[in-house]
Amino acid sequence: MPDHATATAKVAVFVSGTGTNMAALLYASRLPGSPYEIALVAANDPAAPALALARAEGVPTFALAHAGMAREDHDAAMERAARDAGAQYIVLAGYMRILTPGFVGRWEGRMLNIHPSLLPAYPGLDTHARAIAAGDSYGGTSVHLVTEELDAGEILGQIAIAIQPGDTPAALAARVRLAEHQLYPRVLADYVSRWNDPQHLLARVRTLALALPQTHERESHGAPGFRVGTEKSGKFFAHFSDRHHGAPHVSLLVKCAGLDELETLVEAQPHAYHKPAYYGASGWIGVILNRADLDWDDAAHWLRRSWQQVAPKSIAGLLDTADAS
Ligand code: GRF
Repeated sequence: MPDHATATAKVAVFVSGTGTNMAALLYASRLPGSPYEIALVAANDPAAPALALARAEGVPTFALAHAGMAREDHDAAMERAARDAGAQYIVLAGYMRILTPGFVGRWEGRMLNIHPSLLPAYPGLDTHARAIAAGDSYGGTSVHLVTEELDAGEILGQIAIAIQPGDTPAALAARVRLAEHQLYPRVLADYVSRWNDPQHLLARVRTLALALPQTHERESHGAPGFRVGTEKSGKFFAHFSDRHHGAPHVSLLVKCAGLDELETLVEAQPHAYHKPAYYGASGWIGVILNRADLDWDDAAHWLRRSWQQVAPKSIAGLLDTADAS
């Protein structure tokens, strides 16, 4: 197995205050088998109690007060610290700063946040007071991917917390914190493990394959497959292979130009391609999906190529049409 297949994911946690979520993430990371480790705790307030806690626990820290700095410059310094620490993910835990779009864009899919409400309800501040004032039965907490729009990225996990009669925002906030300390470590662990989770990989392949024109899913030898054409006479353009015949890979089998291309690619990039049992002989290449550095645009490209190679002439033009729209 390549190194990245066994190494733990390195995470930088950004904080502004107490850092109880950071502490929950850190202590969970010290349980056996944690798929992530905290490589850095960084704050925009050098006096943040979270920093003292991290230091005491032997975690590298970085602090830079934002006062008087342009937002871009402050973001850039925080980002540099994360990169210098080798971070593959940035996790916001009570980081009270709006981030610049450039920074968010560079970490797309690799930056998480925790927010104290059941998103999409109550983005922004004062969530507990707002939920109580509205007479809601439940408050809650959500972990989500960070996108440019505030508190609006894909929701990765949530816990609902019952609002009790006579609840105050502070009392509710304290219970929400307890829930957050359960939620965040679990969601982060699952998220950094996704690249090696066959269910997740299949779901992504399915979305890409079925987005191509006139496609449907059909099982083949007990494994998911994708065909182009009619239900009756369609042809396979992709197969999903989960550690088939003892192979270490979860892979996407697609048609390539032939054995020459297959062998050249497998030799040059053995971390990315393999020759699948049986299928290899007839020009199907295995695009390895369970690697931390997989580029999904590549997988999408292979699916299109394979679709084009297999699609009947009568519909082959549809892909260009779909492209143009
Ligand atoms: C949490 O309630 C979190 O949802 C919000 O900020 C708070 C941070 O608390 N984004 P702590 O510093 O982790 O204790």
